[in-house]
Amino acid sequence: TQDPLVIFTPSGKRGRVPAGTTVLTAARRLGVDLDSVCGGRGICSKCQISPGKGRFDKHGVTVAEDALSGINAVEERYDRIRGLKPGRRLGCQAQICSDVVLDVPPESQVHRQVVRKNADARPIEMDPATRRYFVSVPEPDMHEPRGDLERLIEALAGQWRIEGATAAPAVLAKLQQALRKGEWEVTLAVHQGAETEPPRIVDLWPGFRDAPLWGLAIDLGSTTIAAHLTSLEDGHVEASAGIMNPQIRFGEDLMSRVSYSMMNEGGAAEMTTAVRAAIDDLARGLAEEAGIEPRDIVEAVFVCNPVMHHLLLGIDPVELGQAPFALATSDAVSLPARDLDLGAINAGAQVYALPCIAGHVGADAAAVALSERPDQSDDLVLIVDVGTNAELLLGDRARVLACSSPTGPAFEGAQISSGQRAAPGAIEAIRIDPETKAPRFRVIGCDKWSDEDGFWEAVGPGGVTGICGSGIIEAVAEMRIAGLVDARGLIGSAEQTGTNRMIAEGRTHAYLIHDGAEAGGPRITVTQGDIRAIQLAKSALYAGARLLMDERGVEAVDRVVLAGAFGAHISPKHALVLGMIPDVPVERVTSAGNAAGTGARIALCSRAARREVEVLVREITKVETAIEPRFQEHFVAANAIPHATAPFAGLRA
Ligand code: FES
Repeated sequence: TQDPLVIFTPSGKRGRVPAGTTVLTAARRLGVDLDSVCGGRGICSKCQISPGKGRFDKHGVTVAEDALSGINAVEERYDRIRGLKPGRRLGCQAQICSDVVLDVPPESQVHRQVVRKNADARPIEMDPATRRYFVSVPEPDMHEPRGDLERLIEALAGQWRIEGATAAPAVLAKLQQALRKGEWEVTLAVHQGAETEPPRIVDLWPGFRDAPLWGLAIDLGSTTIAAHLTSLEDGHVEASAGIMNPQIRFGEDLMSRVSYSMMNEGGAAEMTTAVRAAIDDLARGLAEEAGIEPRDIVEAVFVCNPVMHHLLLGIDPVELGQAPFALATSDAVSLPARDLDLGAINAGAQVYALPCIAGHVGADAAAVALSERPDQSDDLVLIVDVGTNAELLLGDRARVLACSSPTGPAFEGAQISSGQRAAPGAIEAIRIDPETKAPRFRVIGCDKWSDEDGFWEAVGPGGVTGICGSGIIEAVAEMRIAGLVDARGLIGSAEQTGTNRMIAEGRTHAYLIHDGAEAGGPRITVTQGDIRAIQLAKSALYAGARLLMDERGVEAVDRVVLAGAFGAHISPKHALVLGMIPDVPVERVTSAGNAAGTGARIALCSRAARREVEVLVREITKVETAIEPRFQEHFVAANAIPHATAPFAGLRA
């Protein structure tokens, strides 16, 4: 008689195995993706499968009731203590007796797919660099002179095919006690990064450690630092937190931090210490919030602009402040977390920083490229990551170009008379009635719109305190639509000042959005200076986009993606009215949310994605805005609202 035929779904992999073979062994033999942390000892439950019953016409087999062996003592014990879902079996215990069809549920797949929020985006395939392995180590005896570590390494190779692992002295120091406490069984966290790096034992626990490993995806911006505590087993984000970058006290923007380093002996080191300490606090806080042990955080991935990247790594960013803007290193960097003084997380944790595209276009832009994959787009897409510095990517399957543009902090509400960061009390959205010129606005932290004569009555926590980046963009665009500002960005014509909303301010005028003076609050206006600041910022952004379009030899793009935490809040219509981005139909402008953060998470969960981004970055053509004369030409032409030449759809929207 023939050996039983086993068919795995959803992979469709099939083959014959001798009767009595366990499902886990059959899966390994046939190259089926079935997980196991305990190596078949019936304790981790990662190997669960669901056997089919009855006739499977598609596969031409009939599965008997007893195609798998009955439940043995190990499986019975697991079911009693931990509970198996109905219809599930432990693949490492169940033996194949006759032809069978076996379904591997997503949670039992090592390379399970993590679906992203944006349903159109490619799912992340789990392939983390650090994983758990349960290992049984032979006991020493008088005739075996080799050390416990050597026997552990041999066991790891024999049981998991991980050859030549190394262990740091700190791991070695815990080894003997752990082996004896675990009765010669230990759970290891093993890091396997690039093929050139030997596997490294990050940490170990006595016996079977039934807790997942975690990683941090960190978007280190010049203004804020955002971190996402992500499971290295299924990719879900357990907790997220953001804090201000403490380097702000050394300089508001990137260039002022570079100058701080130039002007002050030891300045770069001061900034390095500050940011590392902040990241450490952030990690500790996240672990506490999620109720996990900080020691279980074994990886961190960083995305950041080149100046932040260098300061994080302890490199003086002075070269990035002057042409030719040379990076100390442009490749991805992998190093132990202890080298970055990250003491809150596991002492053996590994850090990976994405590669930088160029001296002005950093690992954050690389992360956006990894998340949005312009190189896989059929149509020509412009991706704009808006922050203090805007990073732009333009491309399709044929070629991808990148540049950065010095937009300055106006888009974040800085250098605006009533400006503030996006926090409770900030006006974040505004509509101006074209007839009455009265504003209605929305305030962060308060869920109502004002409806009475433009005055906000039901104020949110702390009242109305200012206007944030998205608010000022909308305010200027709405003023343009309502005829309160002309195409040159000027206010003060007789027609404009004829409304009671336009108040005299010094030698010019300002548009009054909210007068909180009576209640002891601030008076919130949009001044001529504010409009000027927004014009400069949007001209820089637009000029960067035009420069990339020139380089590609195109007059238009097919679609625009707004990225960055701030990009998520810009309304496409207002971005078009203002002329921040090239003219496209409004429905072709979408938001990718925090694409850099998503890129960090993808790189955290997938070694394949790291390799992809490393290749992608090398293939991206960098365009340097600082030395390109056409940038200046585009910048001047883009000063008008929306633009001096292009026929903008925005105003017609
Ligand atoms: Fe761990 Fe089956 S492999 S329970």
